[in-house]
Amino acid sequence: MDEAETPEVAPGHLWLEGKTLVHLRHDQERPTHMPRGPAKRTGAGFLNPAMAPARTRSVLLMADALEHDWLIKPDQPLRALDALCATGVRVRRWRNEIPEAHQNRLRITANDLDVFALDWLKRSHHAYPPAKSVDHDPEDDRYQRPGTGEMNNGIYTMQNDARVTLLEAGYQWVDLDPFGSPVNFLDAAIQGLARIGFLEVTATDTAALTGSSQGSQFRRYGAKGIVDSYAHDDAVRVLLGLVATTAARHDRAVEPVLALFDGHHVRLSVKVRRSREDASTVLDSIGWRIRDEDGTYRFIQHPTPEEVERGSGPLWVGPLWNAQIAGRMTEERVLAVCSPSTEELNAAKERGLIWEESDSEYAARELRRSVRYISEAAVLMGKDHVLYHMDDLPNMAGTGQAPKMEALFEAIREAGYSAARLPDIDPFVVTDAPHDVVVQCVRERCQL
Ligand SMILES: C[S@@+](CC[C@H](N)C(=O)[O-])C[C@H]1O[C@@H](n2cnc3c(N)ncnc32)[C@H](O)[C@@H]1O
Repeated sequence: MDEAETPEVAPGHLWLEGKTLVHLRHDQERPTHMPRGPAKRTGAGFLNPAMAPARTRSVLLMADALEHDWLIKPDQPLRALDALCATGVRVRRWRNEIPEAHQNRLRITANDLDVFALDWLKRSHHAYPPAKSVDHDPEDDRYQRPGTGEMNNGIYTMQNDARVTLLEAGYQWVDLDPFGSPVNFLDAAIQGLARIGFLEVTATDTAALTGSSQGSQFRRYGAKGIVDSYAHDDAVRVLLGLVATTAARHDRAVEPVLALFDGHHVRLSVKVRRSREDASTVLDSIGWRIRDEDGTYRFIQHPTPEEVERGSGPLWVGPLWNAQIAGRMTEERVLAVCSPSTEELNAAKERGLIWEESDSEYAARELRRSVRYISEAAVLMGKDHVLYHMDDLPNMAGTGQAPKMEALFEAIREAGYSAARLPDIDPFVVTDAPHDVVVQCVRERCQL
């Protein structure tokens, strides 16, 4: 690295995300523990703390894949690429926080076009390395152009257009976290995946995905939206529809593992398998959400022109999560994997982290928040279900007020169905109960 051209690790200040020390630019404010919305400042070297929960879930999913062998065979190495890595907080968290038993199987590549951000990553990783060194040789069959990358303590960095890096090797895990829409990178990401791979995609262009920006939605996603209570779920399903049809064009089939609308962005995590046969049936999972007069909706595959008027789509109408994998994303698990031990915290403080007792409490709360409601909703989200916004229920049931959510869940369960809260900024109920049962339960609980 040329010292004259690269940023210094100091001046700046230290922050802890999960168990990983993050070096922030001196002109970036110390993040709050509950950041919401897009970062106030962006650009090379700035960390977006609002993306911390998505990075935390990425660590959990990767640890789960390695522990439960649902992506690669036991003892096989996992080749993971963060194609738009910026300062590399995600790849450093993979290296620091995936349990030690699996570290030697991880082959991590971090790519970005921005040399300043890459240097920031290398310097941070050098100054604040993982507790145990995990160095290994680059795999020569994976990194094809000699001199295009650099290996540093278990992280291989490359400075390329992401589309080039994606196509150069077969990765089993690809993360796409662009500014705005991921559409420009999707073809290369799907093509760059191994025969069985995992793709994680972030999209921050929520105005386009929800349909509040109709022109962009149509151009980028070929879809039409309605901005109502279901807009967040539509955004998730519109992006998933595009990922699934893009995969099908390359003879691949997708299986969603987790799909969330997280405040200001949509985040999808899908397994992608090469299978012409399954790719050919992709349109069975694509349809429209048609609103009915009573405020409910149905998914329809071939709507009439009149139905299209009160519909959003085309979008993914299949299940959104894998019940088993999402079911393991509990608060206990996130604290076990991503929360620092006393020794780890003391070691971080010795390196200069200023961290009060209250910081530890807030950080643990933030970790729990990153998986809140997920495991409870996993079974329902893994099969056909319906959503209700709590604010819509009084009108639907003619009660003038909504019951408490927990009371409603209890009534639905007593009626023999399931109900849970959806992880969303808005209060949504996810249930498999028929509409008349839900309405009856709302009326019953409002009288109490
Ligand atoms: C939202 S940031 C990534 C944040 C990062 N994944 C994290 O968790 O901190 C998007 C990054 O994409 C990079 N970028 C944009 N276009 C690119 C391209 N065509 N190829 C490679 N990197 C690109 C930018 O330099 C920027 O660092």
